[in-house]
Amino acid sequence: MPDPDIIFGLIPRLRGRFPGFVADCRGEKRLYLNSGAGSLTVDSCLRALNNEGAGLNPMPGQLIPPENQTLQFQQQVRQLVADFLGAGSHEEISFHFSTTAALFNLAFALRSLFKPGKNLLVTDLDHFANISPWETVGSSQGAEIRRVRLTGDLSLDVPDLLKKLDHNTVLVALTGASNVLGTILPLASLVSDIKQKSPALVVVDAVHLAPHAPVDVREIGCDFLAFSGYKIFGPMIGLLYSRPETRDRISPYRVETNKEYPPFCWEQGMLPNLQLAGLKGALEYLLELGRAASPGDSSPSARKTFRLALEAIKRYELSLTLYFLERLKKIDSPRLKFYGIDNPGRATARTPTFALEIAGLNPSELKKLFWERGRVVIADGNHYSAVVVRHLQKSGLNRVSLAHYDGPDSIDLFFDCLDSIISH
Ligand SMILES: Cc1ncc(COP(=O)(O)O)c(C=O)c1O
Repeated sequence: MPDPDIIFGLIPRLRGRFPGFVADCRGEKRLYLNSGAGSLTVDSCLRALNNEGAGLNPMPGQLIPPENQTLQFQQQVRQLVADFLGAGSHEEISFHFSTTAALFNLAFALRSLFKPGKNLLVTDLDHFANISPWETVGSSQGAEIRRVRLTGDLSLDVPDLLKKLDHNTVLVALTGASNVLGTILPLASLVSDIKQKSPALVVVDAVHLAPHAPVDVREIGCDFLAFSGYKIFGPMIGLLYSRPETRDRISPYRVETNKEYPPFCWEQGMLPNLQLAGLKGALEYLLELGRAASPGDSSPSARKTFRLALEAIKRYELSLTLYFLERLKKIDSPRLKFYGIDNPGRATARTPTFALEIAGLNPSELKKLFWERGRVVIADGNHYSAVVVRHLQKSGLNRVSLAHYDGPDSIDLFFDCLDSIISH
């Protein structure tokens, strides 16, 4: 873990790397508190789109130098993603249009496992990107879909999960962190419990976790894990890790002439080179952050450097969470209802993503008031999440989501605006 003095000196200065922090694309000032929907884009991603991206050949190949340069480049980006996740090799990483597209493709690829008599587990904590593919493909093949519920305090009901698991469970779909409540799951211990009780494959949606904490596929022990470039300060692109041992069980969408082996068998058509260039720029930003967070470490590996970066972000964001919860506690209004972990003692089990509502205002009205009174951007709606739609059975909730470019000043502005809304 990097030294807190270094972290707290370093991270607040990084805000300058995000041109969207101070103003939106029209040059207008606003406070963006909707990073859960998509983070701000880092400058090195934007530069890479123009510089490295523009110089690439559409088609990779061996012989012609620009084709070969593209081939090398694509492999280099796969390797960076593998290092980001602690995967064993670039061959374990495939590129997709989005995480949703990656998970639908994965569900299709695993369809032969889903049969009458078999079952799949999905949870009420997940985004529907990690539910609908399993429900759609699993049930069309005759498998049973079992839903894991939440407890009264909106935590995943782990005993319910373990009770629903058996020898006929072929797949368990889990989230790394809820994109509505911010709750982080103890993935490594959960996956170990699942693997002890059943032969199920475990698929992790790490979209909401990846910008906030280190993710290590080998420590987690999952079979597949997906996340998205536009949540980690880069462009729209979905990334899928597949454990090499699952290779004989997959049969993805594939045209006859495409290669049959990973990672190529996962990918349909040409790769989006511009997106890959932007992703590389965003990942290089995290590497810079990791090196700066631990200057004493002489030439650490890319894997270790990513981990240092995300540990620094996690530590810094914990201070934001604690400050947010402290200010929340001071609001003395029965109209405010907060969802998720609010105990500071459990703050390490959450990201700085907060769900709330104000009695008497529907989520879209509250979003509008934040915008009109303070030029503050918060989210409303169902966030594509089963917490909202299935568990709470609401049409929407408001969500405030921070990232490491935010600071106590962002939180103060949010609460000043909230105070003024509640009191008028
Ligand atoms: C937790 C979570 N999973 C999956 C997704 C879907 O990602 P994508 O837009 O890349 O399909 C999102 C998007 O908000 C998300 O927050």
